[in-house]
Amino acid sequence: MVKPNYGGTGWHIFANFALGVGLLLTAIFGAMFAHYLFLLLTILSIYFIYSGIRWARGSAIEERLKIREELIRFVQPKEGDKILDVGTGAGLLAIGFAKVLKKCEAVGIDIWIPLGGGTSLRNARRNAEIEGVADKVKFERADARDIPYPNDYFDIVVASFVLHMIRRGREKALREMVRVLRPGGKFAIIEPPRAGAGWCVDEKLREKLEEIGLKNVKFQPLLISYPKKRTVYIIYGEKRGAASFNLSKED
Ligand SMILES: C[S@@+](CC[C@H](N)C(=O)[O-])C[C@H]1O[C@@H](n2cnc3c(N)ncnc32)[C@H](O)[C@@H]1O
Repeated sequence: MVKPNYGGTGWHIFANFALGVGLLLTAIFGAMFAHYLFLLLTILSIYFIYSGIRWARGSAIEERLKIREELIRFVQPKEGDKILDVGTGAGLLAIGFAKVLKKCEAVGIDIWIPLGGGTSLRNARRNAEIEGVADKVKFERADARDIPYPNDYFDIVVASFVLHMIRRGREKALREMVRVLRPGGKFAIIEPPRAGAGWCVDEKLREKLEEIGLKNVKFQPLLISYPKKRTVYIIYGEKRGAASFNLSKED
């Protein structure tokens, strides 16, 4: 039976092992030919090799399907909903919603950056075929910071492990996601508590989300084992107002 491919951990395994072995060799040769303090690098080397082993052992696919289930259960979609999955990758969330709803319009957008998860537009479309939902899911190349849909179009806008990756224009991406959501519509993203480039799930983020048009903002912790045991957050909110928000795309 052909199985969907929701992206692999190959790059992480390779990068961690390569770094670990590189540091080990530098430690050995540095200590032999330069200074014994180079041996301290073995500590870092062990850390990266251990990380590589953890990535290699992670039962990535089962765990990711569980995370998808949790998010869908939390959002409680309804028949006929229009759903946008931002940074869809291999289509994990868009396809997941299409599988639980008989009638829906699910759209997955991504710019498919190289090494952004080892997936492609072709792969996402193939997954939708394999999962038997190609008639309900559409994938398009589009940037989260400039979503090619009108105001108030979607009932649900989701993203998993995307916003913390957007280093430039993250706020613009959030504003765009809220702009295309209808008033009362549901916004839900899964993200780590902290990451580089100032990503942090905290009161400042809550204020930002409220300022750009969400209410009932909740941070729901979720314990996952991908690629290791850690807590991530479902960040949820509903779009305020009964009428269209005038959130300019030029913002
Ligand atoms: C870690 S992957 C997550 C993929 C998918 N959501 C999942 O959970 O399997 C992050 C994805 O975000 C996409 N991405 C990064 N910046 C983006 C942007 N500005 N607009 C749209 N997609 C973006 C990457 O191409 C990548 O596919």
